[in-house]
Amino acid sequence: EVVDKGHYRHFMQKEIFEQARVIGNTLQGRIGQHKVLEQVFGTSAADIFDQVQRVQIIACGTSYHSGLVCKYWLEDWAGIPCDIEVASEYRYRKVVVSPGTLFVTISQSGETADTLAALRLAKELNYLASLTICNVPNSSLARESDLVFMTQAGPEIGVASTKAFTTQLVSLQLLTIVLGRRHQLSAEREAELVEALHSLPSLCEEVLSLDPEVLEMSEHFSEKHHSLFLGRGPQYPVAMEGALKLKEISYIHAESYPAGELKHGPLALVDSDMPIVAVAPNNDLLEKLKSNLEEVQARGGMLFVFADKDAGFKNNGSTKVINLPHVPASLEPIIYTLPLQQLSYHVAVLKGTDVDQPRNLAKSVTVE
Ligand code: G6P
Repeated sequence: EVVDKGHYRHFMQKEIFEQARVIGNTLQGRIGQHKVLEQVFGTSAADIFDQVQRVQIIACGTSYHSGLVCKYWLEDWAGIPCDIEVASEYRYRKVVVSPGTLFVTISQSGETADTLAALRLAKELNYLASLTICNVPNSSLARESDLVFMTQAGPEIGVASTKAFTTQLVSLQLLTIVLGRRHQLSAEREAELVEALHSLPSLCEEVLSLDPEVLEMSEHFSEKHHSLFLGRGPQYPVAMEGALKLKEISYIHAESYPAGELKHGPLALVDSDMPIVAVAPNNDLLEKLKSNLEEVQARGGMLFVFADKDAGFKNNGSTKVINLPHVPASLEPIIYTLPLQQLSYHVAVLKGTDVDQPRNLAKSVTVE
């Protein structure tokens, strides 16, 4: 398949805008009106899933961040304990495997050396079975795992992963649901989650259309050397992914923190030269997040907030707000990722870096 940029300036930009469509593709044939179709993880999946008591996720880079979000989902919605670790650490330590643990790898390429080595090691241990969430059919991870679930993101060319990440999140949500219905997830809750998934592609379109506002915001970053990304709950990994995107392609040092942890160190860094990006959906943690952000403002920090339109943030001299539509809580990590990708993209373009091929990085790291 020959992939071109179409009318876009960079592959990354094209891939960002493809997300509504490829998320639709990832859901296609996998959900019915009210439920996730049981067969989508393969014919042998049901037997394995019946025995799952615990999940161990292994991945690298952006794929690791999608796994972090999944931990929140698995424990909150399904009541299934989940551990997650980067592959390069996992493969070099002694691990204790609890009975009934499903080993899950997440990878765009299916060829990342550390993730593959971790899978091979796991096969020697007493895991229940292995599952990979992967974007490349017939890749090594797909061939060597017991169960395979393909993200339908299509070829991703930009080194900085975008559509692979959001389709991984969608896939992990489906996994959480099929495992969860064997644990604490009710049919009513499943129906709510599936209904939200049906609305996801059009919500993505709506949020991606905020691009001109994000472009304007990006101008505040191009001369900066450091930045801080904050989120709470499942938005903490979203902040991590936002920071990773910015550092990968714009070379601006970006750190992410769970907002409640600010007082334990990063507040010392805050001054007027440090842009602080926050992800603020209107959920149970909003008030906590707001009081964390007030502490930042009190120290002269400039805030850039991606907020639910009803979250009560106002634009002023020290706060720039981009309002997002209200979305179901289950979709927040996917939806709030989109403008963060756009932000890094525009900052990188302003800085004139090689957006699709950032220095020193490779799309797929197949050697250790
Ligand atoms: C490289 C890429 C990242 C990617 C990571 C894991 O570092 O530059 O974009 O997230 O590898 O790759 P994988 O193919 O396993 O998802």
